[in-house]
Amino acid sequence: MTVPESARQRAAQLRKDIEFHNLRYYQLDDPLIADAEYDRLMQELLALESEHPELRTPDSPTQRVGAPPVQAFAEVRHSVPMLSLDNAFSDENVVDFGRRVSQRLGRDDLAWVVEPKLDGLAVSLTYEQGLLVHAATRGDGQTGEDITANVRTIRAIPLRLSGKGWPDCFEARGEVFMPKQGFQALNARALAAGEKTFANPRNAAAGSLRQLDPKVTATRPLSFFCYGYGLYPDNRLPATHSALLACFRSWGIPVNPELHVVENIAACIAYYRDLLARRSELPYEIDGVVYKIDALAERETLGFVARAPRWAIAHKFPAEEATTRVIGIDVQVGRTGALTPVARLEPVFVGGVTVTNATLHNADEVHRKDIRIGDTVIVRRAGDVIPEVVKSLPELRPPNAMRFVLPGRCPACQAEVEILEGEAIARCSGGLYCPAQHKEAVKHFASRKAMNIDGLGDKLVDQLLEKQLIATVADLYALRAEQLAELERLGEKSSRNLIEALERSRHTTLPRFLYALGIREVGEVTARTLAEYFRELEPLAAADEETLQTVPDVGPSVARHIYTFFRQPHNLEVIHRLLGSGIHWDPLPERPADTVLPLAGKTFVITGTLDSLSREEAKARVLALGGKAVGSVSKKTDYLVAGAEPGSKLTKAQELGIKVLDEAEFLSLSESGGDAP
Ligand code: IVH
Repeated sequence: MTVPESARQRAAQLRKDIEFHNLRYYQLDDPLIADAEYDRLMQELLALESEHPELRTPDSPTQRVGAPPVQAFAEVRHSVPMLSLDNAFSDENVVDFGRRVSQRLGRDDLAWVVEPKLDGLAVSLTYEQGLLVHAATRGDGQTGEDITANVRTIRAIPLRLSGKGWPDCFEARGEVFMPKQGFQALNARALAAGEKTFANPRNAAAGSLRQLDPKVTATRPLSFFCYGYGLYPDNRLPATHSALLACFRSWGIPVNPELHVVENIAACIAYYRDLLARRSELPYEIDGVVYKIDALAERETLGFVARAPRWAIAHKFPAEEATTRVIGIDVQVGRTGALTPVARLEPVFVGGVTVTNATLHNADEVHRKDIRIGDTVIVRRAGDVIPEVVKSLPELRPPNAMRFVLPGRCPACQAEVEILEGEAIARCSGGLYCPAQHKEAVKHFASRKAMNIDGLGDKLVDQLLEKQLIATVADLYALRAEQLAELERLGEKSSRNLIEALERSRHTTLPRFLYALGIREVGEVTARTLAEYFRELEPLAAADEETLQTVPDVGPSVARHIYTFFRQPHNLEVIHRLLGSGIHWDPLPERPADTVLPLAGKTFVITGTLDSLSREEAKARVLALGGKAVGSVSKKTDYLVAGAEPGSKLTKAQELGIKVLDEAEFLSLSESGGDAP
């Protein structure tokens, strides 16, 4: 069958494009397109080549793994090639893959190893007589770069093996990656120093590992998990991958604790779902999971095709990044008047949903990232986080692209926009007269952590204000079911439910009520501290700035906001009406005046992830026992409570000789009522 000219041309174009993007990604660590887009190009080329095998040239990017190494590092020829993985993008792909493997092996009862697919850089580590002697990147799979000096700086990688029983010479292979926390800290440092930031942890890991100066690599927070082997004496191999990795682990080579062995493909898919749900909680980025046949003999039977083994597949997660175009930049007004530029985008599927808007945070950021209307940009949507524009691609900028100019007047109320000294944020000066600020304030009042008015969502608030059924939050409690039933999309039943929810919300707590008022810089935690301190609303409302500053964690700026808030006749009237319409709370538990609370005078910092409670809950416990919970470690800190992945605060606390408590110690301290361990 002759190959149609159009297919030939398309394949040639795809090859050229993929080579170009390979260069950007592998050599320059500066990709122009998102990974999903790259995958799509590769899939299209693979499909064309499988339909017309004549198109499969030996130099096609489908026939090899990456790009050639950069000249500056010495070349290393891999004794066993470093291969890549085929990708599955759906459950169906995975089921088909499982079926093919079973057919080839002639059996169904197969054990599978399931592992996270880390988003970093593949490296091969050579150990001789238990010492790390070489480390190489994958390069094109046949030849990589000698990065031994850099890898020696990564603390997760043992320079000398522990335990016993290792072969004289073998290769452990795995992924070097940058944990999320380290990535954020690195970018924050770069930003403060006016240097270029990295778009994502993968690029940061690659850029750090391929530094010509290992001293620079040493300052980068890199880590490593082993997921396989290269050269290994046949007669020393155990029967399974999982047993081999257990040996590696016993010799001190890190293996991902999320690795499991499961019985069938359905269990593989269940693992995928579980990890997808936990993706944002993991301390490192993953772009999918990998399924591998566990028995090494079965792998031998299955063998390889050009790019990848037949015994493994990567099941990819929906991409969290995608490329699209900015068609406009709107300015949104928040509850506190903050103006947020929001990019309007050509619709793009990312993080499992279609995204049409993404935040640009503030005007400074738009300029720093040089994002213009008309630009092609990388958009990120991770978990439930608001989509954001990561970077623009000025290489693809059309000549008529337009710069963003922050308006001098609020788009909602025309009041002047002010930018305070030292603040990146521009604000509308219209206060509650600004309809946009007002709307956000009502939404905040009703929100879950504030008055928790079930069913009073954003759309409904919009309608109530537009139809002038309410002017302030105090009017909410005068609403009647008949009025509500007339609103669009609100039937009789929902109206009644809302009235009941309003009724329930009348019984609240003082901290919730304070938080709901929406005083600037008074978040949930500060609201609770204020309530604990003043016990009632009146003394708080009457307090002067000096008194307010004696409250733990309240500095001059918060004190000023609180003081000013309670001096506005408009605010006092709203509060008066709210209380008049039946909002009430139980008195806080009695605290006898002469008992000193067990943690009085003690300052805590809470860092990392705790298993059994959130950081906010931990802070609340400290407060309840009379202690103080602050954000950063200093000489004044008495205790650091360190959860998983504690980061730099732990290092600092150790340097300062501050007592560090793990979760169990903290729980026993707070449950025992404060007898310090
Ligand atoms: S196994 C012969 N396992 O993904 C099979 N690879 O897309 C070799 N990767 O080059 C790879 N996590 O850089 C394997 N648990 C894991 C992985 C993993 C990340 C990377 C690795 C590989 C690429 C293939």
